[in-house]
Amino acid sequence: MRTVWWSKNRVKLIDQTKLPFKTEVLEFRDYRKLARAIKEMRLRGAPAIGVATALGIALGINHSKASSFRELSKELDRTIKTFQGTRPTAVNLFWACRRMKKKFRENRGKSPKEIKRILVQEAKRITQEDIDCCKRIGELGASLIKKGDSILTHCNAGALATAGYGTALGVIKKAHEEGKRIKVFIDETRPRLQGARLTTWELKREGIPFTLITDNMAGYFMKKKEIDLVIVGADRIAGNGDVANKIGTYPLAVLAKEHKIPFYVAAPTSTIDLRLPSGNRIPIEERNTREVTHMGGRALVPKGTKAANPAFDLTPNRYIKAIITEKGIARRPYRQSLRKICGW
Ligand code: MRU
Repeated sequence: MRTVWWSKNRVKLIDQTKLPFKTEVLEFRDYRKLARAIKEMRLRGAPAIGVATALGIALGINHSKASSFRELSKELDRTIKTFQGTRPTAVNLFWACRRMKKKFRENRGKSPKEIKRILVQEAKRITQEDIDCCKRIGELGASLIKKGDSILTHCNAGALATAGYGTALGVIKKAHEEGKRIKVFIDETRPRLQGARLTTWELKREGIPFTLITDNMAGYFMKKKEIDLVIVGADRIAGNGDVANKIGTYPLAVLAKEHKIPFYVAAPTSTIDLRLPSGNRIPIEERNTREVTHMGGRALVPKGTKAANPAFDLTPNRYIKAIITEKGIARRPYRQSLRKICGW
């Protein structure tokens, strides 16, 4: 399954706000509209945001009327700035901007027409690499899963959160393919319900058995020994292994430690931000509180109710048993293992 892709000088993506009831493909010719779609979470999930940003930058440049390298360079900066203003936590977005800019600079001196072609090619390469990384994460991660394991996951870290295949769900899919007869508990993931709407949709398509639970049920099932391990994705991993992921991840990690259940994170190396020594400096996106006070356009609370809506939380490295990347499985001390994996 593809989530976001390049097609005939346009970017196409599955509108995730319509799932699970409708599979609608949106088409973009204007990079600004694509950036708005990211902000509105029509596409979401850190790796998918990174890929969409790379494709969006290629889209902006490809449709540019600039006739010199200098003009094109200004256009590129404007395009990058637009994407950087969409979602602040997923580092893959900033990683994709850096990679596209590097490619642009490397080709200084070439004609705008040639540079456009090169940037489109680079964005397509980033898309394919993301799928390949996820498949490798799946293979490596599946080795940590035993026959009959019952796995809890949070949010959606599947094909929909990447260019295809998925990170945490990639591991789950691979273990299922290997015939390990796994079962999955899916947290509904308030307030945007990525677990209830998207992860259920994906696992149903794959024929993987699952049970949907509300976010406050995990401790109950852990205590009853019905969960063997937890596996989640990540939006940004700091140099010391602290992980920013969907709000509600941190309490799961604490609960897992209390119940001696391994807690794993699966993410491509493009999610690792070695420039940040710890997670404390990871920017946490604050979203509109209407996502908390309303559902399906209807108010759930008395008028004037004050609400908060941080979209992510931070899980300190001490709660994480291992971080599964496409280049290997990192274990504590993460400062060393992550650097080694990233070749720093
Ligand atoms: O707000 P979202 O839906 O973009 O948040 C997504 C998550 O937190 C995912 O768990 C994370 O990006 C990993 S996706 C492979």
